[in-house]
Amino acid sequence: GSLRARGMDIRLEDGSLDLTRRPRRSRGSDWSRRLVRENAITVNDLIWPIFLIEGQDRREPVATMPGVERLTVDQAVREAETAAEHGIPAIALFPYTDPDLRDPAGSEAINPDNLTCRALRALKREVPQIGLITDAALDPYTSHGHDGLMNGDRILNDATVAVLVRQALAQADAGADVIAPSDMMDGRVGAIRAALDDAERTDVQIMSYAAKYASAFYGPFRDAIGTRKALTGDKKTYQMDPANGDEALREAELDVAEGADMLMVKPGLPYLDVVWRLKERFRLPTFAYQVSGEYAMIQAAAKNGWIDGEAAMLESLLAFKRAGADGVLTYFAPTVARLLRNAR
Ligand code: PBG
Repeated sequence: GSLRARGMDIRLEDGSLDLTRRPRRSRGSDWSRRLVRENAITVNDLIWPIFLIEGQDRREPVATMPGVERLTVDQAVREAETAAEHGIPAIALFPYTDPDLRDPAGSEAINPDNLTCRALRALKREVPQIGLITDAALDPYTSHGHDGLMNGDRILNDATVAVLVRQALAQADAGADVIAPSDMMDGRVGAIRAALDDAERTDVQIMSYAAKYASAFYGPFRDAIGTRKALTGDKKTYQMDPANGDEALREAELDVAEGADMLMVKPGLPYLDVVWRLKERFRLPTFAYQVSGEYAMIQAAAKNGWIDGEAAMLESLLAFKRAGADGVLTYFAPTVARLLRNAR
């Protein structure tokens, strides 16, 4: 006898179920799982963020990001060569600016010989096959650690955009292929696009941090570039409220209208819904930034033996792809590239 339950016949005599649909069938063996697999992470999905320091032939570990080091320009060139050999398409540069070069106006940001610009020139000359992405934002250069100019405790929007434009032009002159405005000022994408075009840099792309949230997950990054202690207050008047999703669509819509070639969501894993919504709506190349705090959490738990670090790393990157991301900025990039290479 069979029993009618929830519209299905369930056979009882031998304890087995009368099921037409058994989704586990396709998971029964490795070949079958590979055959039906919908997404994969490949080396072409990786953007590697690199931290720079002054000096020669030197590396400094970042205490809160185990496995990550700040690199002098020559070391960055060496790492970029290896990354390019492994097939990583692009790197993103972040400078640790000497404290005496930081001021309230972030003037060092527009110095054509600042650390980032010198690194760009060396990298473009020595490793021309790798894409070079730079942040347009003032925080590595300001004594107060904010991304913009300040008047009292207010962040000035339009005055900041004027400086970001000059910063972006200096970076483009030095060899940046992609400018990534990460400051969240209004109108910066359009202003940078117009200035690049005026300077006949129509080929330089813009990857906008379209939806960048005021997140607790940036802490280790601020150690890496030396802004954690300097930072007064928070960034909530320019970075987005983590409670908001629709606002990300409005932000991205403006950036698309202003000429963004690529969109980015940041942080990554806690904001996969935003990645999905931006990709669905705009169909532009869309990236996620697996930020320093996300990296640190995986590394810390792995070091304690609480999770399998390698498996967690690969699973997190795959999740970005499933959510619709075309690529991921991740500090795991060289590790993943090596793994993928050895798996071949
Ligand atoms: C600066 C910037 C930040 C990050 C990238 N660019 C920090 C911030 O906004 O305070 C964070 C990246 C990370 O945490 O890995 N505008």
